[in-house]
Amino acid sequence: MIQSLCTVHNVEQVAENIFVLTFISPHIASVTKAGQFVNIRVAEGVEPLLRRPFSVCRTEGECVEIIFNVVGKGSSVLRKKQSGDLIDVLGPLGVPFSLFEDDFDTGVLVGGGLGVAPLPISTATLVARQKSVSTFIGSRSKRQLVKNHLVNVHVATDDGTEGLHGTAVDLLKKHSDEYRYRRPKIFACGPTKMLHAVAAFAIANSIPCEVSLEGPMACGFGICQGCPVELVGAERKYALMCKEGPTFDVRRIRI
Ligand SMILES: Cc1cc2nc3c(=O)[nH]c(=O)nc-3n(C[C@H](O)[C@H](O)[C@H](O)COP(=O)(O)OP(=O)(O)OC[C@H]3O[C@@H](n4cnc5c(N)ncnc54)[C@H](O)[C@@H]3O)c2cc1C
Ligand code: FES
Repeated sequence: MIQSLCTVHNVEQVAENIFVLTFISPHIASVTKAGQFVNIRVAEGVEPLLRRPFSVCRTEGECVEIIFNVVGKGSSVLRKKQSGDLIDVLGPLGVPFSLFEDDFDTGVLVGGGLGVAPLPISTATLVARQKSVSTFIGSRSKRQLVKNHLVNVHVATDDGTEGLHGTAVDLLKKHSDEYRYRRPKIFACGPTKMLHAVAAFAIANSIPCEVSLEGPMACGFGICQGCPVELVGAERKYALMCKEGPTFDVRRIRI
């Protein structure tokens, strides 16, 4: 992990209220693994004071992409960044998805809303490893769908404007025959309610599954103790989301 001032390459709107910010960092671009995140100090002043964590969405050459929707102070500042601006970035942080293990043949990627963020970099890793990939993404409507840099994508929308009328987990269940016999492993990111449903499906069907959590964080590297995740049946009651996550095997944690 390093802290560095990185130059913004550009900020591009890719869907309704959803933006991709690309910044230049040869170090982060070369060492980041899928599922890791960066912690960004979005402004020089005190407002907002805390860094904001963002999953690394994709890397290419010296460039690193994050994707975000504008919900509050931090994301509003980021959205207004322009080419050439500097941002203070700490990263890469956290434990990546275990995409380099040999305990699966099909990577089943599931993303709800902006939980799609770590899926492009995960896809690139799986494709490079010659794994099969099935991708299931859900959003509120067609207007908020982001499918860039994904492969074999199945879509669901809450309002039925594209794909299945329902959730990413409904889709996952509907297509489960497709990957049943090819040693699947699920990698999911999205709202807590969705992660609950994915975990229940995975456990009921004996499919290994990792989720990436997006709870509140501050320091991002294990100092402030501000990001506890409840563990199941362990010697310790809590793990730190920033340091021992944000990716966890669903059997280890109480989501
Ligand atoms: C490991 C990790 C990875 C993350 N990756 C991403 C990512 O790739 N893309 C991304 O957009 N965000 C991501 N987040 C969330 C991100 O860090 C910020 O919380 C989010 O951008 C909101 O920050 P803000 O300063 O704009 O909002 P704040 O000013 O902090 O919050 C304003 C209001 O918005 C609400 N709010 C906060 N976050 C959300 C949300 N996600 N959806 C709806 N309402 C919200 C708050 O409850 C509050 O009421 C990640 C978080 C973690 C811990
Ligand atoms: S955010 Fe500080 S310990 Fe996790």
